[in-house]
Amino acid sequence: DNKLTLGLFGFGVVGQGLHDIIKTKNLNLAIKRFVIKHPEKKRTLPASLFTTDARSVLDDPEINTVVELIDDAAAAFDIVSAALRSGKNVVSANKKMIATHLEELVDIQHKHGTSLLYEGAVCGSIPIIRNLEEYYDNELLHSVTGIFNGSSNYILSKIFNENLAYSTALKQAQDLGFAETDPTLDVGGFDAKFKLTIVASHAYGLYLSPDAILNIGIDKLGASDIQFAREKNFRIKLIPTAREINDKAVILYVLPKLVSPDNILYAVENEYNGVLVKAAFADEQFFYGKGAGGHPTGSAVLSDIAALRYGYKYEYKKHLGAGELTYSTDWDIQV
Ligand code: HSE
Repeated sequence: DNKLTLGLFGFGVVGQGLHDIIKTKNLNLAIKRFVIKHPEKKRTLPASLFTTDARSVLDDPEINTVVELIDDAAAAFDIVSAALRSGKNVVSANKKMIATHLEELVDIQHKHGTSLLYEGAVCGSIPIIRNLEEYYDNELLHSVTGIFNGSSNYILSKIFNENLAYSTALKQAQDLGFAETDPTLDVGGFDAKFKLTIVASHAYGLYLSPDAILNIGIDKLGASDIQFAREKNFRIKLIPTAREINDKAVILYVLPKLVSPDNILYAVENEYNGVLVKAAFADEQFFYGKGAGGHPTGSAVLSDIAALRYGYKYEYKKHLGAGELTYSTDWDIQV
């Protein structure tokens, strides 16, 4: 009856969010063990469930599913690749790790007949990967843009709506559990870029190193930029863009942009994310939802865990014939 026995790596914001959700439901799954880094921390669950020994999960034949929710991308890659190689399916929310190693991870899955799902890694609760994989399968996508980083959006919202100082707003985003452990990843546009890299592979069949993609974050904005936007009645949003410029080239970048009130992204505020898809036949569609936080992200992780029960795998179909990355100098500053 396809019972899933899980080993969970990490018990931070998302791990605890996932556990909260699982505990309210009667699902045919059990978390057998939690692997954590800091055994001295006080936990809400019995100490016997926790271990610092990764092998006690990776070598346990009863555990058929690994859920990786740790911070450290290098350690996460070792765990995820070892689990996939040992025949376990994996759910991860580690955007940096996935963006950095995607091509290799696809290869490992093919070789070992295992599945890696990561809906929670891109825009928290919004099911964008599943839709790029399945719904837009036959579509020519003109562009995928939006707001992919909840912390940057939260900070900008607080600056524009409440006149908060940048540092106060950043501190709030950290206290609320939205920000990365190193918030430079958020405010420098790196986190949005990792998500864009993953989106580009599912939308266009492009596998790029995140290092190849331009990112400028909201930490580069000055008081005069905010002032200028205010005078025009615009807001500034951090916008990752994947845009097809002809049938063989896609432009990818992350930039803070001016957003006018008639743009749908204008109303995406606080930790919310939005994904705007422009397609040749479906025309425009917009996905909106919480992009960060334990419960929203935990719900995406649980959806992936449940999908493993019916053998779901990403197929990474290509949406464009050739997939050559082209940089253009026409980075428009207004959406
Ligand atoms: N730090 C990320 C954000 C968390 O603010 O969007 C969700 O990926």
